[in-house]
Amino acid sequence: MTTAPQAPGRAIGAPLDRIDGPRKVTGTAPYAYEYRFESPLYLFPIRSEIPRGRVTGIDASAAEAIPGTVIVITHENAPPLSDTRDRELSILQSDEVAFRGQYVGAVVAESFEEARHAAGLVRVAYEEEQHEAILKPEENELYAPEQVNAGFPTDTEDGDVDSAFATAAVSLDETYSTPMEHNNPMEPHTTVAMWEGGNLTLHESTQGVHSVRRTISRMFGLDRDRVRVVAPYVGGGFGSKGLPHANTVLAALAAQMIEGRPVKFALTRQQMFTGVGYRTPTVQRIRLAADRDGQLTGMGHDTIEQTAKIKEFAEQTSTPTRMMYASRSRRTTHRLAALDVPVPSWMRAPGEAPGMFALESAMDEMAVKCGLDPIEFRIRNEPENDPESGLPYSSRNLVACLRQGADRFGWEDRDPTPRSQRDGSWLVGTGVASSTYPVYRMPGSRARIRYEGDERYAIEIGAADIGTGAWTTLTQISADALGVVVDDVELRIGDTNFPSASVAGGSSGITSWGSTIFEAARTFREQHGEDPSVGDQAEARMPDNPETQNYAMSAFGAHFAEVRVDEDTGEVRVPRMTGVFAVGNVINAKTARSQLVGGITMGLSMALHEESLVDGRFGHVVNHDFAEYHIPTNADVGEMDVSWIEEIDPYVNPMGSKGIGEIGIVGSAAAVANAVYHATGIRVRDLPITPDKLVR
Ligand code: MOS
Repeated sequence: MTTAPQAPGRAIGAPLDRIDGPRKVTGTAPYAYEYRFESPLYLFPIRSEIPRGRVTGIDASAAEAIPGTVIVITHENAPPLSDTRDRELSILQSDEVAFRGQYVGAVVAESFEEARHAAGLVRVAYEEEQHEAILKPEENELYAPEQVNAGFPTDTEDGDVDSAFATAAVSLDETYSTPMEHNNPMEPHTTVAMWEGGNLTLHESTQGVHSVRRTISRMFGLDRDRVRVVAPYVGGGFGSKGLPHANTVLAALAAQMIEGRPVKFALTRQQMFTGVGYRTPTVQRIRLAADRDGQLTGMGHDTIEQTAKIKEFAEQTSTPTRMMYASRSRRTTHRLAALDVPVPSWMRAPGEAPGMFALESAMDEMAVKCGLDPIEFRIRNEPENDPESGLPYSSRNLVACLRQGADRFGWEDRDPTPRSQRDGSWLVGTGVASSTYPVYRMPGSRARIRYEGDERYAIEIGAADIGTGAWTTLTQISADALGVVVDDVELRIGDTNFPSASVAGGSSGITSWGSTIFEAARTFREQHGEDPSVGDQAEARMPDNPETQNYAMSAFGAHFAEVRVDEDTGEVRVPRMTGVFAVGNVINAKTARSQLVGGITMGLSMALHEESLVDGRFGHVVNHDFAEYHIPTNADVGEMDVSWIEEIDPYVNPMGSKGIGEIGIVGSAAAVANAVYHATGIRVRDLPITPDKLVR
């Protein structure tokens, strides 16, 4: 392990090794499914075989005859839920089927194998109704949601867009699309549910134990303190574990019928493709107008995407176009098609990732039309203040990222002509794209600090580390907040026994939890001074940040990619990518780098590999495994040069940090697509860029 920095108050910024690293590599960090229980039971779900309709009959006799079967649970015998308003979560409460793969029952058995075998023996009869499971903007009925996610307005209009286009010297009007994609953390969604004496304990793979407790206690009509959720270690989430899904409810319902024995439910990889969310497919029309100098005068971003009939999910895809570039007019819209499908959900940079693919591809096309270098084109359209709110930025260093990235990548001598560089049958090209992500702070966190004696402090907060490094970074933050060294801090997270904390989502964790810890430390010192007694403690909630009224707050970045495209086969390789970010003060250079490399890689994956293919006749994802749903392996990922600029932002939070979990993916796919255009002269506007789109 890296030695802890010894100067008190100087832990933030140290490239500390992960404090949970040894536990993880020795296999001693318990994930939800791995907790040891006496006589656990295993759940295997029964999922609807129709995309829409009703269950008309269930024959469980063969399943019940399996010796290990404990119960077969269906809507006919499931306990009633107290709150059924959330139609994604309120499963087994009626005979209705809302999408293919929805839970219509489960078998709980003494072993996983018996549960799985018995589940396959349950005969379910259905009455099927007409369904619509594929986004087809020209056929679907579209509607405008009241607002889009994170509370943003559905549509915005600023200035006279129509006249900007009527008088434009240069204009662009193109449509881009991104496919349905599925979150696939290495650890699948997992729950171990146990009821004892009216109390429910969930060992759960989640991005927020308190959010699970809130939802589950409400649905089961329990006082919050009767539900405990435990998740100290989580093997990835990418948004799908940001809210509980129906699998958690199913495990809890089954366990309720078997008081006193834990019920274990881990989704199979194939089951990960139904019911735990996905990135909605998008169709995005981008319009850009510019004058002769390449100054944008009009921007339009109209997004069409899908939601589920049973629950609205309105992704905020057009929102980056509201703030990225200066323009005297702009219009942005979102329209939804409500389909007979599972509910879409968060997937790393929901909104920004698909939205910036479209915008940053269009910016590249527009630079070509204007005869400008794409970096120069972006710099010419750098706004002074936030174009949407008019507020100054707390810090905005997009231009510095573009310039520094150009230096590191070697952009200077680039010949902009497509197909100008070749190496045998490989066409070589380079591309650039901007990146951004908002600085979110989520309300609702509290932290408790207790002096344990012997210079040691315990810090308790129900936060989550989903692989991001929060165990380590929150320890560093706690040390500085208290003015002690890292070794004097014992962090406790991942349990509802610790004070409420917001979810690990929206790259908001460090801002929200870190601000809360700073406030708790201030309160502790105020109450107990520098020389506390054993057992002294203090608790505080996250304070408001009045600067959010005065400043727009976002992180920025620049991506560069080199691609090689085989002229004969259309194979795309990406030998190197450069990412430079302006993300405020970096708490830990090692974990930060991991987050950024991971995000960029996921953008590369979005560019070239990921696509969930739905068979419209049956309503299911056909390529529902890692043999056919492709993500990059080491051989697909070239050299990753990731760095950040020194950015001092005194307004965002006490640490001066901006979130880094998501910005890496934003714009990364566009940089690859723009490089593919430069290499081949072929502009692929529909992701993923598969070889068939490059062979002519
Ligand atoms: Mo992240 S997709 O906000 O969990």
